[in-house]
Amino acid sequence: MQVDLIITNAKELLTIKGSLKPRSGKEMNELSIIKDGAIAIKDGKIFSVGVSKDISEKFSSKKIIDATDKIVMPGFIDPHTHPVFLDTRENEFEMRIKGKSYVEISQSGGGIRSSIKGVRESSEDKLFELSLKRIKKMIPYGVTTLEAKSGYGLNTESELKMLRVIKRLSETLPIDIIPTFMGAHEFPIEYKDNREEYIRILKEEMMPEIMSSKLAEYCDIFTEAHVYNIEQSRDILLHAKKLGFKLKMHADEIEPIGGAELAGEIGAISADHLGATSDKGIFSLRDNGVIATLLPGTLFSLRAKTYARARQMINAGLPVALATDYNPGSCNCDSMQMVISLACLQMGMTPAEAIVASTFNAACAIERQDVVGSLEKGKKADILIMDMPSYQFLPYHFGSNNVEIVIKNGKII
Ligand code: NIG
Ligand code: FE
Repeated sequence: MQVDLIITNAKELLTIKGSLKPRSGKEMNELSIIKDGAIAIKDGKIFSVGVSKDISEKFSSKKIIDATDKIVMPGFIDPHTHPVFLDTRENEFEMRIKGKSYVEISQSGGGIRSSIKGVRESSEDKLFELSLKRIKKMIPYGVTTLEAKSGYGLNTESELKMLRVIKRLSETLPIDIIPTFMGAHEFPIEYKDNREEYIRILKEEMMPEIMSSKLAEYCDIFTEAHVYNIEQSRDILLHAKKLGFKLKMHADEIEPIGGAELAGEIGAISADHLGATSDKGIFSLRDNGVIATLLPGTLFSLRAKTYARARQMINAGLPVALATDYNPGSCNCDSMQMVISLACLQMGMTPAEAIVASTFNAACAIERQDVVGSLEKGKKADILIMDMPSYQFLPYHFGSNNVEIVIKNGKII
């Protein structure tokens, strides 16, 4: 049978095949490797996966990629990014090097609030061009699906502008982009003494308009001591849920204020960061089917002394995903490969666990595990050809790009 593309002779083909349930515990170590593996691709989808000999007997194609001495794996899924902003904030990076904390910088006029002015004043085209350039740089590092958040506009007009930019990015770029509304990223300066009024605007003005224009699938919030407390977060998120948003949270990044417990209580799809989550928080996530999306790049960039307790989470049976958290403040990192290295080095995840967390479980964090995240018949042909001798090489060879070819929907991009 004739197919559109065959990838053959892969030294290791990491299929990560299995059920559609998020992987937890020991399953996070299962890559389901085919040695000397091959894939037949037709109409942008995976048609067959097997050993090279079988695939070459059954299929032929005008296009063949010889992956001899290479590793073949699913494209990375980055389920947490903030790529739409105007100016970068490397000044804050230097302030942190000199000893200021992220929260101190936020409270003295920097932080998220310092990104608001630029986004509000920028034209939509300018924001689009800048974000386009940023995401184009992420693709050669192997990302084939990405979640992107608003949250630097913090008024109805500018949040809508950001979400329209995200829509345009998804229409322009070859990768899939999943939109999230994050009007509850901070309290804008004009409402700093009237937080209730901003919450009213969020709930009564922004959310209905964004929902009716179908510009976002998820609603996210920054639940942390200096921004949205637990009561405010519950109120905002339950309202969002009623309107039809699915929920995500930035939870317990810096202080364990009960964000993870709340994520379990309200049925969030994922709780992200979790740098300081309590044991109770871990159990609440696990018992309520919430994915723990860990962002070690952020804690690395914030010079944190401790990281999310990935080992306890995995041992407790909580499915862990990884993401870059790419943003102008706390983490200007656009490489899932770097995040995988940090996950291993700083959180003790095994290379296999970090790979599952960046592919299949990351797909679960944006509810796309039926179409991406593993190399199985019927799924999108989102595939990476990696220039490395084994999968363990990926985190080991850090700060570099191990990706040789990125394939999205069966096409080299
Ligand atoms: O995920 N924690 C909240 N939001 C971002 C930081 C955004 C910023 O500082 O601009 C994060 O780390
Ligand atoms: Fe974030």
